[in-house]
Amino acid sequence: MFDKIYKDKKVIITGDTGFKGSWLAIWLLSMGTDVMGISLPPETPRDNYVLCGLNERITHINQDIRDYNALRKIFNEYNPDIVFHLAAQAIVLEGYQDPLKTYGTNFMGTVNVLEAIRHTKSVKAGVIITTDKCYENREWVYGYRETDRLGGNDPYSASKAACEIAIASYNHSFFNDDSSTNIASARAGNVIGGGDWAENRIVPDCVRALEKDAPIIIRNPKAVRPWQHVLEPLSGYLKLGSLLCSDTKEFTGPWNFGPSSKNMVTVKELAEKIIKNWGHGKISCESENNKFSEANLLHLDISKAVNKLKWQPKLDFADTVSFMIDEYKVDGMTKAEIYEQRVEHIIKYMDNMNENP
Ligand SMILES: NC(=O)c1ccc[n+]([C@@H]2O[C@H](COP(=O)([O-])OP(=O)(O)OC[C@H]3O[C@@H](n4cnc5c(N)ncnc54)[C@H](O)[C@@H]3O)[C@@H](O)[C@H]2O)c1
Repeated sequence: MFDKIYKDKKVIITGDTGFKGSWLAIWLLSMGTDVMGISLPPETPRDNYVLCGLNERITHINQDIRDYNALRKIFNEYNPDIVFHLAAQAIVLEGYQDPLKTYGTNFMGTVNVLEAIRHTKSVKAGVIITTDKCYENREWVYGYRETDRLGGNDPYSASKAACEIAIASYNHSFFNDDSSTNIASARAGNVIGGGDWAENRIVPDCVRALEKDAPIIIRNPKAVRPWQHVLEPLSGYLKLGSLLCSDTKEFTGPWNFGPSSKNMVTVKELAEKIIKNWGHGKISCESENNKFSEANLLHLDISKAVNKLKWQPKLDFADTVSFMIDEYKVDGMTKAEIYEQRVEHIIKYMDNMNENP
Protein backbone atom coordinates (compact mmCIF):
# COMPACT_ATOMS: atom_id res chain seq x y z
CA MET A 1 0.00 0.00 0.00
CA PHE A 2 1.03 3.59 -0.53
CA ASP A 3 -0.06 5.23 2.75
CA LYS A 4 3.41 5.11 4.36
CA ILE A 5 5.02 6.88 1.38
CA TYR A 6 2.78 9.93 1.82
CA LYS A 7 3.12 10.34 5.58
CA ASP A 8 4.83 13.69 6.35
CA LYS A 9 5.50 14.35 2.65
CA LYS A 10 4.92 17.84 1.26
CA VAL A 11 2.47 17.63 -1.61
CA ILE A 12 1.15 20.32 -3.95
CA ILE A 13 -2.26 19.73 -5.51
CA THR A 14 -3.23 22.14 -8.26
CA GLY A 15 -7.01 22.26 -8.57
CA ASP A 16 -7.61 21.52 -4.87
CA THR A 17 -10.88 23.49 -4.87
CA GLY A 18 -12.21 21.30 -7.70
CA PHE A 19 -14.06 18.01 -7.48
CA LYS A 20 -11.20 15.55 -7.82
CA GLY A 21 -8.57 17.78 -6.22
CA SER A 22 -10.64 18.22 -3.04
CA TRP A 23 -11.12 14.45 -2.68
CA LEU A 24 -7.40 13.93 -3.25
CA ALA A 25 -6.64 16.48 -0.51
CA ILE A 26 -8.89 14.57 1.94
CA TRP A 27 -7.24 11.27 1.07
CA LEU A 28 -3.74 12.72 1.50
CA LEU A 29 -4.69 14.38 4.81
CA SER A 30 -5.95 11.01 6.05
CA MET A 31 -2.45 9.61 5.43
CA GLY A 32 -0.69 12.40 7.34
CA THR A 33 0.49 14.43 4.33
CA ASP A 34 1.27 18.16 4.47
CA VAL A 35 -0.96 19.47 1.65
CA MET A 36 -0.73 22.76 -0.21
CA GLY A 37 -3.41 23.58 -2.78
CA ILE A 38 -3.12 26.02 -5.68
CA SER A 39 -6.21 26.97 -7.68
CA LEU A 40 -8.97 29.49 -8.24
CA PRO A 41 -11.55 29.90 -5.45
CA PRO A 42 -14.36 27.32 -5.20
CA GLU A 43 -17.31 28.08 -7.48
CA THR A 44 -20.30 27.22 -5.28
CA PRO A 45 -20.92 26.87 -1.53
CA ARG A 46 -21.76 23.22 -2.13
CA ASP A 47 -18.44 22.31 -3.77
CA ASN A 48 -16.75 19.41 -2.00
CA TYR A 49 -13.91 21.72 -0.91
CA VAL A 50 -16.35 24.02 0.91
CA LEU A 51 -18.64 21.27 2.23
CA CYS A 52 -15.68 19.59 3.92
CA GLY A 53 -14.15 22.79 5.29
CA LEU A 54 -10.86 22.09 3.56
CA ASN A 55 -9.74 25.71 3.85
CA GLU A 56 -9.22 25.00 7.54
CA ARG A 57 -7.27 21.80 6.97
CA ILE A 58 -4.79 22.58 4.19
CA THR A 59 -2.70 25.55 3.07
CA HIS A 60 -4.50 26.98 0.07
CA ILE A 61 -3.32 29.69 -2.31
CA ASN A 62 -5.68 31.35 -4.78
CA GLN A 63 -3.49 31.48 -7.85
CA ASP A 64 -4.09 31.31 -11.58
CA ILE A 65 -1.73 28.71 -13.05
CA ARG A 66 -1.39 30.81 -16.19
CA ASP A 67 0.94 33.10 -14.22
CA TYR A 68 4.26 31.26 -14.40
CA ASN A 69 6.30 33.59 -12.19
CA ALA A 70 3.80 33.38 -9.35
CA LEU A 71 3.61 29.61 -9.65
CA ARG A 72 7.37 29.23 -9.61
CA LYS A 73 7.65 31.40 -6.51
CA ILE A 74 5.11 29.23 -4.65
CA PHE A 75 6.92 26.03 -5.63
CA ASN A 76 10.31 27.46 -4.61
CA GLU A 77 9.05 28.60 -1.23
CA TYR A 78 7.12 25.43 -0.35
CA ASN A 79 9.60 22.89 -1.80
CA PRO A 80 7.15 20.03 -2.39
CA ASP A 81 8.22 16.37 -2.64
CA ILE A 82 5.33 15.40 -4.90
CA VAL A 83 3.02 17.37 -7.23
CA PHE A 84 -0.44 16.33 -8.45
CA HIS A 85 -1.53 18.66 -11.25
CA LEU A 86 -5.31 18.67 -11.67
CA ALA A 87 -6.15 22.35 -12.28
CA ALA A 88 -7.91 22.75 -15.60
CA GLN A 89 -10.85 24.12 -17.48
CA ALA A 90 -12.42 20.68 -17.25
CA ILE A 91 -15.73 20.98 -19.12
CA VAL A 92 -16.00 19.96 -22.78
CA LEU A 93 -18.87 22.36 -23.60
CA GLU A 94 -17.08 25.29 -21.99
CA GLY A 95 -14.15 24.51 -24.25
CA TYR A 96 -16.31 25.41 -27.25
CA GLN A 97 -17.50 28.60 -25.54
CA ASP A 98 -14.05 29.78 -24.48
CA PRO A 99 -11.24 28.07 -26.39
CA LEU A 100 -8.66 30.70 -25.38
CA LYS A 101 -9.23 30.08 -21.67
CA THR A 102 -9.31 26.34 -22.26
CA TYR A 103 -6.01 26.19 -24.14
CA GLY A 104 -4.43 28.82 -21.89
CA THR A 105 -5.33 27.01 -18.68
CA ASN A 106 -4.96 23.45 -19.83
CA PHE A 107 -1.97 23.63 -22.14
CA MET A 108 0.10 26.63 -21.00
CA GLY A 109 -0.99 26.04 -17.39
CA THR A 110 0.44 22.52 -17.62
CA VAL A 111 3.65 23.75 -19.24
CA ASN A 112 3.95 26.29 -16.39
CA VAL A 113 3.56 23.49 -13.83
CA LEU A 114 6.16 21.34 -15.62
CA GLU A 115 8.53 24.29 -15.74
CA ALA A 116 7.96 25.08 -12.06
CA ILE A 117 8.70 21.43 -11.23
CA ARG A 118 11.85 21.54 -13.36
CA HIS A 119 13.14 24.50 -11.33
CA THR A 120 12.25 23.04 -7.92
CA LYS A 121 14.91 20.56 -6.88
CA SER A 122 12.84 19.07 -4.05
CA VAL A 123 10.25 17.54 -6.42
CA LYS A 124 10.74 13.81 -6.73
CA ALA A 125 7.47 12.93 -8.47
CA GLY A 126 4.81 14.67 -10.56
CA VAL A 127 1.50 13.18 -11.66
CA ILE A 128 -0.15 15.27 -14.37
CA ILE A 129 -3.83 14.59 -14.87
CA THR A 130 -5.11 14.73 -18.43
CA THR A 131 -8.15 12.72 -19.61
CA ASP A 132 -9.38 9.73 -21.62
CA LYS A 133 -10.43 12.30 -24.25
CA CYS A 134 -6.78 12.90 -25.20
CA TYR A 135 -7.04 9.97 -27.63
CA GLU A 136 -8.11 10.45 -31.21
CA ASN A 137 -11.62 9.00 -31.00
CA ARG A 138 -11.99 6.42 -33.72
CA GLU A 139 -15.28 5.07 -32.34
CA TRP A 140 -13.54 1.77 -31.60
CA VAL A 141 -15.51 -0.75 -29.55
CA TYR A 142 -12.34 -1.84 -27.76
CA GLY A 143 -10.34 0.10 -25.22
CA TYR A 144 -7.70 2.69 -26.06
CA ARG A 145 -4.13 1.95 -25.05
CA GLU A 146 -1.45 4.36 -23.93
CA THR A 147 0.34 3.90 -27.26
CA ASP A 148 -2.71 4.90 -29.35
CA ARG A 149 -2.77 8.09 -31.35
CA LEU A 150 -3.55 11.32 -29.51
CA GLY A 151 -6.12 13.75 -30.89
CA GLY A 152 -9.21 15.76 -30.09
CA ASN A 153 -11.83 17.42 -32.27
CA ASP A 154 -12.99 19.83 -29.57
CA PRO A 155 -10.83 22.42 -27.76
CA TYR A 156 -10.90 20.63 -24.37
CA SER A 157 -9.79 17.27 -25.80
CA ALA A 158 -7.18 18.86 -28.06
CA SER A 159 -5.79 20.96 -25.19
CA LYS A 160 -5.34 17.80 -23.13
CA ALA A 161 -3.75 15.88 -26.03
CA ALA A 162 -1.36 18.85 -26.36
CA CYS A 163 -0.54 18.47 -22.64
CA GLU A 164 0.36 14.83 -23.25
CA ILE A 165 2.80 15.85 -25.99
CA ALA A 166 4.34 18.52 -23.72
CA ILE A 167 4.72 15.99 -20.87
CA ALA A 168 6.40 13.45 -23.19
CA SER A 169 8.71 16.18 -24.45
CA TYR A 170 9.63 17.31 -20.91
CA ASN A 171 10.35 13.67 -19.99
CA HIS A 172 12.56 13.32 -23.03
CA SER A 173 14.34 16.66 -22.72
CA PHE A 174 14.57 17.33 -18.98
CA PHE A 175 13.24 14.57 -16.67
CA ASN A 176 15.44 11.95 -18.34
CA ASP A 177 18.13 9.65 -16.87
CA ASP A 178 20.13 12.68 -15.72
CA SER A 179 17.25 13.91 -13.57
CA SER A 180 16.02 12.51 -10.26
CA THR A 181 12.49 13.84 -10.92
CA ASN A 182 9.95 11.39 -12.31
CA ILE A 183 6.87 12.57 -14.20
CA ALA A 184 3.85 10.62 -15.41
CA SER A 185 0.50 11.48 -16.94
CA ALA A 186 -2.78 9.94 -15.84
CA ARG A 187 -5.73 9.48 -18.17
CA ALA A 188 -9.20 8.79 -16.77
CA GLY A 189 -12.74 9.82 -17.61
CA ASN A 190 -16.34 10.19 -16.45
CA VAL A 191 -15.58 10.37 -12.77
CA ILE A 192 -18.52 10.65 -10.39
CA GLY A 193 -18.87 11.25 -6.65
CA GLY A 194 -20.22 13.64 -4.05
CA GLY A 195 -19.60 17.37 -4.11
CA ASP A 196 -19.32 17.79 -7.88
CA TRP A 197 -21.71 20.58 -8.93
CA ALA A 198 -20.20 21.40 -12.34
CA GLU A 199 -22.64 22.52 -15.02
CA ASN A 200 -23.24 20.19 -17.96
CA ARG A 201 -22.19 17.05 -16.15
CA ILE A 202 -24.73 14.27 -15.97
CA VAL A 203 -24.63 13.47 -12.24
CA PRO A 204 -24.83 17.05 -10.90
CA ASP A 205 -27.60 17.67 -13.46
CA CYS A 206 -29.50 14.60 -12.14
CA VAL A 207 -29.12 15.62 -8.49
CA ARG A 208 -30.18 19.23 -9.20
CA ALA A 209 -33.35 17.88 -10.89
CA LEU A 210 -34.10 15.42 -8.07
CA GLU A 211 -33.71 18.14 -5.44
CA LYS A 212 -36.34 20.22 -7.25
CA ASP A 213 -38.62 17.21 -7.82
CA ALA A 214 -38.20 17.88 -11.55
CA PRO A 215 -37.69 15.14 -14.15
CA ILE A 216 -34.11 14.28 -15.06
CA ILE A 217 -33.67 15.41 -18.66
CA ILE A 218 -31.41 13.16 -20.68
CA ARG A 219 -30.32 14.20 -24.14
CA ASN A 220 -28.25 11.18 -25.05
CA PRO A 221 -29.85 8.22 -23.19
CA LYS A 222 -28.11 5.45 -25.12
CA ALA A 223 -24.60 6.88 -24.84
CA VAL A 224 -22.44 4.36 -23.00
CA ARG A 225 -19.88 5.82 -20.61
CA PRO A 226 -17.33 4.15 -18.36
CA TRP A 227 -18.52 5.52 -14.98
CA GLN A 228 -16.15 5.39 -12.07
CA HIS A 229 -16.28 6.68 -8.52
CA VAL A 230 -13.75 9.44 -7.84
CA LEU A 231 -11.82 7.20 -5.42
CA GLU A 232 -10.95 4.80 -8.26
CA PRO A 233 -8.75 7.09 -10.39
CA LEU A 234 -7.44 8.79 -7.23
CA SER A 235 -6.19 5.43 -5.95
CA GLY A 236 -4.40 5.07 -9.29
CA TYR A 237 -2.87 8.57 -9.08
CA LEU A 238 -1.70 7.90 -5.52
CA LYS A 239 -0.22 4.53 -6.38
CA LEU A 240 1.52 6.05 -9.39
CA GLY A 241 2.83 8.97 -7.31
CA SER A 242 4.24 6.59 -4.70
CA LEU A 243 6.01 4.47 -7.32
CA LEU A 244 7.42 7.56 -9.02
CA CYS A 245 9.20 8.32 -5.75
CA SER A 246 11.48 5.31 -6.33
CA ASP A 247 14.81 5.64 -8.12
CA THR A 248 13.68 4.24 -11.44
CA LYS A 249 12.21 5.68 -14.62
CA GLU A 250 10.00 2.59 -14.97
CA PHE A 251 6.79 4.37 -13.98
CA THR A 252 7.17 7.60 -15.98
CA GLY A 253 5.00 8.24 -19.06
CA PRO A 254 1.26 7.80 -19.62
CA TRP A 255 -1.16 5.58 -17.65
CA ASN A 256 -4.83 4.80 -18.19
CA PHE A 257 -7.13 4.50 -15.14
CA GLY A 258 -10.59 3.32 -16.14
CA PRO A 259 -13.37 1.28 -14.54
CA SER A 260 -14.06 -2.40 -15.15
CA SER A 261 -16.20 -3.14 -18.20
CA LYS A 262 -19.16 -3.85 -15.86
CA ASN A 263 -19.30 -0.12 -15.08
CA MET A 264 -19.82 0.75 -18.74
CA VAL A 265 -23.53 1.46 -18.83
CA THR A 266 -25.77 3.93 -20.64
CA VAL A 267 -26.60 7.40 -19.37
CA LYS A 268 -30.21 6.20 -18.92
CA GLU A 269 -29.15 3.22 -16.77
CA LEU A 270 -27.06 5.56 -14.64
CA ALA A 271 -30.01 7.92 -14.18
CA GLU A 272 -32.27 4.99 -13.24
CA LYS A 273 -29.77 3.78 -10.63
CA ILE A 274 -29.44 7.30 -9.23
CA ILE A 275 -33.23 7.52 -8.87
CA LYS A 276 -33.31 4.12 -7.12
CA ASN A 277 -30.69 5.26 -4.60
CA TRP A 278 -32.28 8.70 -4.17
CA GLY A 279 -35.66 7.13 -3.43
CA HIS A 280 -37.84 8.84 -6.05
CA GLY A 281 -37.69 10.73 -9.36
CA LYS A 282 -38.41 10.36 -13.06
CA ILE A 283 -36.61 10.64 -16.39
CA SER A 284 -37.48 12.56 -19.54
CA CYS A 285 -35.48 11.74 -22.68
CA GLU A 286 -35.02 14.55 -25.19
CA SER A 287 -33.48 14.12 -28.62
CA GLU A 288 -29.93 15.39 -29.00
CA ASN A 289 -30.07 18.71 -30.84
CA ASN A 290 -26.70 20.15 -29.97
CA LYS A 291 -24.10 21.00 -32.58
CA PHE A 292 -21.45 20.87 -29.85
CA SER A 293 -21.95 17.21 -29.05
CA GLU A 294 -19.57 15.00 -27.13
CA ALA A 295 -17.86 12.05 -28.77
CA ASN A 296 -19.48 8.64 -28.67
CA LEU A 297 -18.16 5.57 -26.92
CA LEU A 298 -14.58 5.81 -25.77
CA HIS A 299 -13.15 3.60 -23.11
CA LEU A 300 -9.73 2.83 -21.79
CA ASP A 301 -7.70 -0.36 -21.83
CA ILE A 302 -6.26 -0.52 -18.31
CA SER A 303 -3.99 -3.56 -18.81
CA LYS A 304 -0.83 -1.50 -18.36
CA ALA A 305 -1.87 -0.15 -14.93
CA VAL A 306 -3.23 -3.56 -13.85
CA ASN A 307 -0.04 -5.40 -14.78
CA LYS A 308 2.70 -2.89 -14.02
CA LEU A 309 1.23 -0.82 -11.17
CA LYS A 310 -0.84 -3.69 -9.72
CA TRP A 311 -3.74 -1.24 -9.67
CA GLN A 312 -7.31 -2.13 -10.42
CA PRO A 313 -10.78 -0.69 -9.95
CA LYS A 314 -12.57 -1.94 -6.83
CA LEU A 315 -16.16 -0.68 -6.87
CA ASP A 316 -18.92 -2.27 -8.92
CA PHE A 317 -21.64 -0.12 -10.47
CA ALA A 318 -24.06 -0.56 -7.54
CA ASP A 319 -21.45 0.47 -4.94
CA THR A 320 -20.29 3.35 -7.14
CA VAL A 321 -23.76 4.91 -7.25
CA SER A 322 -24.60 4.08 -3.63
CA PHE A 323 -21.36 5.75 -2.36
CA MET A 324 -22.06 8.75 -4.57
CA ILE A 325 -25.67 9.35 -3.54
CA ASP A 326 -24.68 9.10 0.15
CA GLU A 327 -22.11 11.79 -0.58
CA TYR A 328 -24.70 14.07 -2.17
CA LYS A 329 -27.28 13.62 0.60
CA VAL A 330 -25.50 15.71 3.21
CA ASP A 331 -28.05 18.43 3.93
CA GLY A 332 -28.12 19.15 7.66
CA MET A 333 -24.64 17.68 8.28
CA THR A 334 -21.82 19.86 9.62
CA LYS A 335 -18.59 20.38 7.68
CA ALA A 336 -16.78 18.10 10.12
CA GLU A 337 -19.42 15.37 9.67
CA ILE A 338 -19.22 15.60 5.88
CA TYR A 339 -15.42 15.46 6.06
CA GLU A 340 -15.64 12.37 8.29
CA GLN A 341 -18.11 10.72 5.89
CA ARG A 342 -15.61 11.22 3.05
CA VAL A 343 -12.81 9.77 5.20
CA GLU A 344 -14.99 6.76 6.06
CA HIS A 345 -15.56 6.09 2.37
CA ILE A 346 -11.82 6.32 1.78
CA ILE A 347 -11.15 3.89 4.64
CA LYS A 348 -13.75 1.43 3.29
CA TYR A 349 -12.18 1.77 -0.15
CA MET A 350 -8.67 1.17 1.24
CA ASP A 351 -9.89 -1.88 3.22
CA ASN A 352 -11.19 -3.23 -0.07
CA MET A 353 -7.77 -2.54 -1.64
CA ASN A 354 -6.00 -4.39 1.17
CA GLU A 355 -8.36 -7.38 1.06
CA ASN A 356 -8.23 -7.65 -2.75
CA PRO A 357 -4.84 -6.26 -3.70
N1 LIG B 1 -14.34 14.98 -13.57
C1 LIG B 1 -14.15 14.21 -14.61
O1 LIG B 1 -15.02 13.40 -14.98
C2 LIG B 1 -12.84 14.25 -15.37
C3 LIG B 1 -12.67 13.35 -16.43
C4 LIG B 1 -11.46 13.35 -17.11
C5 LIG B 1 -10.44 14.21 -16.73
N2 LIG B 1 -10.63 15.09 -15.70
C6 LIG B 1 -9.52 15.99 -15.36
O2 LIG B 1 -9.27 15.88 -13.98
C7 LIG B 1 -8.85 17.16 -13.47
C8 LIG B 1 -9.76 17.60 -12.35
O3 LIG B 1 -11.10 17.63 -12.82
P1 LIG B 1 -12.31 18.09 -11.90
O4 LIG B 1 -13.49 17.33 -12.35
O5 LIG B 1 -11.89 18.02 -10.49
O6 LIG B 1 -12.46 19.61 -12.37
P2 LIG B 1 -13.15 20.83 -11.61
O7 LIG B 1 -13.70 21.72 -12.67
O8 LIG B 1 -14.05 20.36 -10.54
O9 LIG B 1 -11.94 21.56 -10.91
C9 LIG B 1 -11.00 22.30 -11.65
C10 LIG B 1 -9.98 22.90 -10.71
O10 LIG B 1 -9.04 23.63 -11.50
C11 LIG B 1 -8.94 24.95 -10.97
N3 LIG B 1 -8.64 25.88 -12.06
C12 LIG B 1 -9.33 26.09 -13.20
N4 LIG B 1 -8.72 27.05 -13.92
C13 LIG B 1 -7.62 27.44 -13.22
C14 LIG B 1 -6.61 28.39 -13.42
N5 LIG B 1 -6.55 29.14 -14.53
N6 LIG B 1 -5.65 28.53 -12.47
C15 LIG B 1 -5.68 27.79 -11.33
N7 LIG B 1 -6.61 26.87 -11.09
C16 LIG B 1 -7.58 26.70 -12.02
C17 LIG B 1 -10.28 25.25 -10.35
O11 LIG B 1 -10.17 26.33 -9.43
C18 LIG B 1 -10.58 23.90 -9.71
O12 LIG B 1 -9.87 23.83 -8.48
C19 LIG B 1 -8.87 18.12 -14.67
O13 LIG B 1 -7.57 18.19 -15.20
C20 LIG B 1 -9.81 17.44 -15.64
O14 LIG B 1 -9.56 17.82 -16.96
C21 LIG B 1 -11.82 15.13 -15.02
